[in-house]
Amino acid sequence: MKKEKNDLMEKIISLTKRRGFVFPSSEIYGGFAAVYDLGPYGVELANNIKKEWWRSMTQLRDNVVGLDSAIFMSPKIWEASGHVKGFSDPLTECRKCHTRLRLDTLLEEIDVLADEKMSEEEINKIFDANREKIKCPSCGAKDFTSGRSFNLLVQSNLGNFTGDWTKEPVYLRGETCQGIYVNYKNVLDSARVRIPFGIAQIGKAFRNEITARQFIFRTREFEQMEMQYFIHPDKTKEAYNYWREARWQFYLDLGFKPENLKWHQHENLVFYAKEAYDIEYNFPFGFKELEGIHARGDYDLTQHAKSSGQNFEYLDTISGEKFVPNIVETSVGVGRTFLAALCEAYREENIGGDERIVLALPPRLAPIKIAVFPLLKNKPDLVVRAEEIYHSLRQKFRCEFDDNGNIGKRYRRQDEIGTPFCLTFDFDSLDDAMVTVRERDSATQERVKISDLDNYFSSRLS
Ligand code: GAP
Repeated sequence: MKKEKNDLMEKIISLTKRRGFVFPSSEIYGGFAAVYDLGPYGVELANNIKKEWWRSMTQLRDNVVGLDSAIFMSPKIWEASGHVKGFSDPLTECRKCHTRLRLDTLLEEIDVLADEKMSEEEINKIFDANREKIKCPSCGAKDFTSGRSFNLLVQSNLGNFTGDWTKEPVYLRGETCQGIYVNYKNVLDSARVRIPFGIAQIGKAFRNEITARQFIFRTREFEQMEMQYFIHPDKTKEAYNYWREARWQFYLDLGFKPENLKWHQHENLVFYAKEAYDIEYNFPFGFKELEGIHARGDYDLTQHAKSSGQNFEYLDTISGEKFVPNIVETSVGVGRTFLAALCEAYREENIGGDERIVLALPPRLAPIKIAVFPLLKNKPDLVVRAEEIYHSLRQKFRCEFDDNGNIGKRYRRQDEIGTPFCLTFDFDSLDDAMVTVRERDSATQERVKISDLDNYFSSRLS
């Protein structure tokens, strides 16, 4: 079973490279660990994921608004938030080959429960009790240094021209939500929102992750989709339960199988958190965190109020009550959703004696919605008419034109990138003004009038 799952991961990695979804960063220079680039179809898939999230979190709601805060912010923000002191993972080093490893992950691999939120002392105690069982994954040695906390914030010299910028480092943001907290007042004063309301943001975050493994699951540069919901403290439980349910439903609406999702309750809460659950996805390397849903209390606003000297109290104009809002957060990575969507969609099938790989992505996520083919490349009558259809359909749908190779090969290519429909203009089309439309999952074909194509695809792709 484990081997099958490893094979699946290898197959997905190979497909995403071969078909232009994901490329290792800086590959021609030997690569750059834990950073990836999105290729032509990857950027479409990621954009579609972000579009779905944005639609469900803002467009379909009355009280959630958007924000796009800068990646660079005052370093004071990261001090106030606690990241400069406490945003760390436990690190150990193999004394033989000097590979640096995450201690909690090493323990997890021998089924010993440890949590990145445990103190250095706690985790070292568990480590010492299990040292005999732990081997370095690179060289097999059993000789490790003691664990120490390693801060994950990435530093930069932005705006510092003194030559010694390490003394006053500026940070690339480690999570997008800090940009939301520090703009809470601006949004409240400008956007006609009253509590309860939310602020949603999609953007890049950066972390000096110790171990770079599991493809795009854990990267040093990644995108987060985060929403912070501001509420009266008495409404925390209600809001928390609401967002847990809403976020679970989001994945079901994307077509994820319920058996591939599960809840994980955090046992070791960070000191300010009231409640924290993750939605885990059944990745080929096991159930792992896809999204975090956290009740953060008033910690973030209180910290920034104290540190900046601003007043973050909210005045309820009806009751006259003043309070610092509490926050429920939902936070998920684009890359993790991307990988989960690929795992969910990847299939190997035999249809009519032909082997095929197909990405059965829901049409909303598919990078290309319709592929348009002339039956033969060397027949100008067919090519010109197919091009006309392509130019017309692409006004509304993301389309691709392909006249290369035989039709079977073109179908296989589109199956592998998850295109829900292929359309072929053939010799009969010249007479009956109809084309053949072939559906990806069933591989069935039907003739559709050219004049009906817009309506046909509007309804089939909705
Ligand atoms: N603001 C809360 C926060 O950032 P987190 O659990 O550290 O919480 C939230 O991250 C989500 O961001 C995770 O559930 C995951 O989807 C994504 N994420 C975190 N670190 C990541 C990494 N190194 N690579 C890819 N995605 C990551």
